[in-house]
Amino acid sequence: MPATLNVLFLAAEASPFVKVGGLADVAGSLPLALRNLPPEATRGLELDVRLILPLHRSNRADTTTMLPVASALVYRRGGSLMADVYQTSLRGMPVYFLTGDPISNAPTVYSSDAALDREKYAFFSLAILEVLRKLDWQPDILHANDWHTALALYALRSRRADPVLARIRTVLTLHNLPYMGGDSRDILSAYGLMPLQEKLLPDWAQTQPLPLGLWAADVIVPVSPTYAREILTPEFGHGLETYLRSRADTITGILNGIDTTWFDPARDDALPYPFDVDHLEARAQNKEVLQKTLDLPIEAETPVIGMVTRIDQQKGIDLALRALARFGERPWQFVLLGTGDPSLENNARNLQTIYPDRVRIVLRYDDALARLIYGGADCFLMPSRYEPCGLAQMIAMRYGCIPIVHATGGLKDTVQEGKTGFLFHELTPEALLEALERAFKAFANQEKWWHLQRNAMAQDFGWERSARQYALLYRSLVNKN
Ligand code: GLC
Repeated sequence: MPATLNVLFLAAEASPFVKVGGLADVAGSLPLALRNLPPEATRGLELDVRLILPLHRSNRADTTTMLPVASALVYRRGGSLMADVYQTSLRGMPVYFLTGDPISNAPTVYSSDAALDREKYAFFSLAILEVLRKLDWQPDILHANDWHTALALYALRSRRADPVLARIRTVLTLHNLPYMGGDSRDILSAYGLMPLQEKLLPDWAQTQPLPLGLWAADVIVPVSPTYAREILTPEFGHGLETYLRSRADTITGILNGIDTTWFDPARDDALPYPFDVDHLEARAQNKEVLQKTLDLPIEAETPVIGMVTRIDQQKGIDLALRALARFGERPWQFVLLGTGDPSLENNARNLQTIYPDRVRIVLRYDDALARLIYGGADCFLMPSRYEPCGLAQMIAMRYGCIPIVHATGGLKDTVQEGKTGFLFHELTPEALLEALERAFKAFANQEKWWHLQRNAMAQDFGWERSARQYALLYRSLVNKN
């Protein structure tokens, strides 16, 4: 057992450098939380966790202060490609940025051209293995995330003859199973990767990065315990359930955390009236500002339902819209903030046309407004069809905004019916409306509502809890050596 355990965390995006979705929040927080664990949590083992990211044009890292630390050729049929690595740091943690033609040519982290993304992430994943030998630091564990970096684990499995790579253990965190990377047959052969023969994986899955990474990973970590169970079923397994069931003893769900310093209602500059659990009255003033900002009628007694989300099928926006359209004459207001699928955006706009004095649909990315919704709306709606973990419901609870959620994945693991929020089980407008009814009934009773808010706000959603579990997992992997 080494006294220091080196972990390289592989991700497509990480806050504060570049953020598109929830993966960025995790990759920007978990590695730091692991580094900051008290020695007792790691039983004396020092965790040297570092992060490696692709250097996209849209990156906010200051490239002028980065140091070039390694370069390597990556085999590709028709002409090998150069990979260069630069180093910077984030709150004391070394962060590597990797670049090369497939990355520097890409406009964004995820593009609408799936083939471009497949090429880029295959290059990124394989280049990581090549540059590793050139760094003055070697990982004991490669910790990949989602399909983008899954091929690094697959390629590693075929390099067992290489003494530097052979001793590395692997973890794959699963943030979103349906995104598997798509058919990459051409790319796999162009980068010299052997085809897989695994009878429990369907043929179509054997050429997609995520299933290959799942096959290769020593352990698989879905981002909540419930999601870890759900992916073993046909409903959530997306055709991989048979294979995943065969791996059940290597699958461990670990719930994500949130950055409780970054999301702190007592110290949030975006809130005109910061508050804590003992000063809940201030929330009412934030609600007033929210209503004023959005030009909604300023009514303290009217419950405001907020949603901050990617506008995507996964998130159940259509269900929310259908339910609200039937909600009838009782007072309610609804605010939706986010961007995404144009047809869902359009449906949302239609609801505002029907209810111009109740509904505001704001189709943009707006961090300050998101925070005002968390700190001013009464309820937070998440009717997700599936939700591997979900971060917004945890942020909402920290801000005393009571979640109303579909009982799935991480939503089920973080919200308690009648105590910290409200859950519905059937994915129907009726079930959603019943949960809203229960919430509104509680809202009508000030004492009861404050009680719910206090419960919700008192929970600890910080990263330390998750980091402790990952640390134990890392430890168990190297113990097997
Ligand atoms: C994905 C999932 C979400 C999860 C996030 C971070 O965006 O959809 O449920 O919270 O990844 O793990």
